[in-house]
This record gives sequence, structure tokens and C-alpha cells, in this order.
Amino acid sequence: MPKQRVLSGMRPSGKLHLGNLAGALENWKKIQEDFDCFFFAADWHALTTEYEDPGSIRENIRDLMVDWLSVGISPEKSVLFIQSLVKEHAELHLLLSMITPLPWLERVPTYKEQQQELTNRDLSTYGFLGYPLLQTADIIIYKADKVPVGIDQVPHVELSREVARRFNFLYAPVFPLPEPMLTEVPKLLGIDGRKMSKSYHNAIYISDPPDEIRQKVSQMFTDPRRVKKSDPGNPDICNVFSFHRVYSSPETVERVNRECRGASLGCVQDKKNLAETLVSYLSPIRERRETYLKNLKAVDEIVAHGCARARNVACQTMEEVRAAMKLP
Ligand code: TRP
Repeated sequence: MPKQRVLSGMRPSGKLHLGNLAGALENWKKIQEDFDCFFFAADWHALTTEYEDPGSIRENIRDLMVDWLSVGISPEKSVLFIQSLVKEHAELHLLLSMITPLPWLERVPTYKEQQQELTNRDLSTYGFLGYPLLQTADIIIYKADKVPVGIDQVPHVELSREVARRFNFLYAPVFPLPEPMLTEVPKLLGIDGRKMSKSYHNAIYISDPPDEIRQKVSQMFTDPRRVKKSDPGNPDICNVFSFHRVYSSPETVERVNRECRGASLGCVQDKKNLAETLVSYLSPIRERRETYLKNLKAVDEIVAHGCARARNVACQTMEEVRAAMKLP
């Protein structure tokens, strides 16, 4: 049995944090053992919202690739590439635009939501409306079977199924219908208890040096009703405890739970312990990061090789697409 194909991408929007790591990359690392994986930096997608200020895109792509490699996305197991270096995505996007009814795009929930949320820029553009159709091209050009994404991206994968089905019906059965691959991921909040996000300045980055991690963890919110150490705490509503659940051993989780409720472990000490756990979890990643940063040529070569492999597959699909659409 040939391996099933998996494809996923991330917009290059800056350094990765623990939320990205727990929410996506830990999962990608596992998937790459059993699937034929393609992972890419969606730089054209970044432009749909950042078109006024593209200055940091190149640097962000570099950071993204270095972060992926450092956490263990392996170039031997997965194809790592950059969207804009495989121009066939753009050709397929254009061809799919011919067969995609406008209402299909207008009713994608992220379209109106993002327009309302990101009020500081004008998103009444053609490119922004086409965002999920470009994503469709990304997915089906590799004939992906599975697309690991967060729940917010499921409507985009659904659109890609509808568009693939329409293409197959109108011309020829070229595309398998891709499915979202949803996995249970721990939700990590930022140090202030809101969603971990670069824009909230509440993230712990995988590139943070040990002292910065210690500093950030010391600022984390715990059970707000626990004022003094002698008050019993409630781990169920404590953000620090939710980090323990992800990063500490089951024995530690059990002990912290017991000692917090019993008021024998104070928040200050507990946070010191958590900080050391995070430091040792992140330190091999950070070391690999530093090695890659000293040898960016190697990173560029890995990515160039990945782009060539991706292009190979994409070009083959486009031969079939052009034939099906009677193009010369
Ligand atoms: N839209 C995705 C996000 O914001 C990124 C993305 C672009 C993507 N193309 C993709 C994800 C194709 C999966 C498959 O996270």
C-alpha cells in the first residue's frame, strides 16, 4: 500500500511559539512517520492580508523553516517548500477560478469574520476573497488525501472538496477529494490567560533563551482566588497547571494537583518548577536552532531541494489539468 499523502501549510508570520508547537508541529512530527508529507510556507497567503507591508516576509519564511527543522520536521521524511517558488499553484488557482461560483467564496465563514476583525486594513480585495481558493489549489495540486489543520480551517478544506468534485465532474477525474485531519490538541493559553498569539505579546517562543522563559513563566496567571500560599488552589482553572499537563510527567501532574489543592505547594515555587521543565524541553530545540542559524546555507539547500520535489509533483498534476481542460 502506498502511503497516503498529507499536505499542510503555515503563513510565515514570525517566530513560532509553544502554541504552534503543541497545536500543529508536534502533530506533524508524528504524521511524517506514516504519511507522505508536504509542508510549506504559504507566503502568497501572507500577502493577502500583509500586502501593504511585505517587508518581513522573506525573513519570516527563513524563521519558519529554521523552526520547523529545529523541532524535528525532517527533510528526509517530509518535503519542505515555499509556495511562491512553485508557480504551478498560481496557474491552478487561476484555472479553478473559472469554475468556482462567487457565492462559494463569499459564504466561507473566515471571509466576513476576518474582514470585520482586521479593521486596520482594507480586505475588500480580489486576492482576499480568493484566499480559500488558493488554498484549494495548494491542497489538490499534490492530490493530498489528508490536510492536518485546526478547526478554524475546516471550511477551507471543505471548499477544496467541492471545487475538486466540480472539476472532476466537468472535465475528468483528476483529483482525489481531500479530508481535514483533525487531531486532539492541547490548547495552550498565553501567559496572560488569553489565546497565545504574537499580537497579544503573551507568547513563549521556541527561540526564547532560558532566562526569558523563566521571566515569562513567573508572570503567568494562576488560580485568581488563591491569594496566599495557605489558601488551597484549584488547578482546574489554573493556566500554569494546563502547561504541566502538556509538559510534565504524569507523576508530577498528580503531585502538583494534590499539593496545590492541599496548599502545600505555592504558586511561586510551582512556576519555578514549570519554568525549568520548559527550559529543558526547549533547550535541545534551541540548540538545533542555533546550529541551523549558523549554517543558513544548509537550510537554503534543504528548502531548494524541497521546492524541486514539490514542483515535480505539481508539474505532473498540471499536465493532467491542462489535458482535461483542453489547453495546449
Ligand atoms: N490558511 C492556512 C492557515 O492560515 C494556511 C494554509 C495555506 C494552508 N494553504 C494551506 C493550510 C493548505 C493547509 C493546506 O493556517
